[in-house]
Amino acid sequence: MTIPHTFDLPETFTHLEYTPEVARATAPIFDRLRDVMPEIEWPVHAPYIVEINQLKRQRNAIILAHNYQTPEIFHGVADIIGDSLALARQAEQTDAQVIVLCGVHFMAETAKVLCPDKTVLIPDLDAGCSLASSITAEDVRLLRQRYPGVPVVTYVNTSADVKAESDICCTSANAVDVVESLGSDHVIFLPDEFLGRHVAQQTKAQVIFWKGHCEVHERFSANDLRLYRAQYPNIQILAHPECPPDVLAEADYVGSTSGMIRHVDRKRPKRVVMITECSMSDNVAVDFPQIEFIRPCNLCPHMKRITLPKILSSLERMQHPVVVDPVVAERARRAVERMLQVGRGSAQQYAARTLAD
Ligand code: 13P
Ligand code: SF4
Repeated sequence: MTIPHTFDLPETFTHLEYTPEVARATAPIFDRLRDVMPEIEWPVHAPYIVEINQLKRQRNAIILAHNYQTPEIFHGVADIIGDSLALARQAEQTDAQVIVLCGVHFMAETAKVLCPDKTVLIPDLDAGCSLASSITAEDVRLLRQRYPGVPVVTYVNTSADVKAESDICCTSANAVDVVESLGSDHVIFLPDEFLGRHVAQQTKAQVIFWKGHCEVHERFSANDLRLYRAQYPNIQILAHPECPPDVLAEADYVGSTSGMIRHVDRKRPKRVVMITECSMSDNVAVDFPQIEFIRPCNLCPHMKRITLPKILSSLERMQHPVVVDPVVAERARRAVERMLQVGRGSAQQYAARTLAD
């Protein structure tokens, strides 16, 4: 489906006012969102959507948005949407000179590591991640001393400094393939303990864990899932592997954010609950109006730092450019590129959806 990101507005267009022209130009977007957004919100978002889409063309910029971004960003201004792996792949492939990363800081850093010659902007520098802040490069060096010769697999939810100390990166979409690709009987898996335990169940390798957790996914409990099943007959429960093991054991499907979307697309269940961040269900429900989404709400406060006004300001002022020390970037790039090589053949499986699909 094509979203009209080009608007034909008259000379008299006044910036950031909800004029009849802006209402008309953005009506096709709101029509898609009306089931997930109160109508009263649209006059606030629509002028920003018009401005951002115009400015990004002037700047030769592209907007990459993670699946947890709010619907007005995800459906209103993003050019590329997807999970961490898809965003990394698309950052590597885009011809645009400027990348605005609507997600959290490690995602923008990964884009910068892969595209050192491009300008990568993050609309809010404080958009962090509890997993990324759970481990430092020094921690990784100490682990290597403690387990000499054991390869280090690092989840992309980490700083460039940590990636630079790692042998290979992974995301929740390819973690098992990455671990298997090493052919090692032991691996150090950092920093997400729960993703690591999920991977360990699917590989013969002995996995050494770190105690990092996602502050959003660790809050779900197995009892929450049992209550959904009791309350909503025939519900399909989809969970992100950052959830605790007892939660994953109750789920019908475990996968990355894009994995969950593909699962819904393939299976078309009547009723679904996605055990993950709030905005996921809203974004996916827009594309599957016939499916009933039960919406548990655990917000990622870091993802929610990105807003339309901050994206506009980011494009106007070219803020905030992500900077990675070139020596660190070179070493981190090696780990990320090794990951991207794993499953190159099945790139289709992980491909980002574009709004032109
Ligand atoms: P995905 O790679 O599955 O999109 O996950 C990223 C993330 O931060 C989940 O909390
Ligand atoms: Fe990090 Fe969790 Fe937020 Fe994902 S949802 S960005 S893992 S804190």
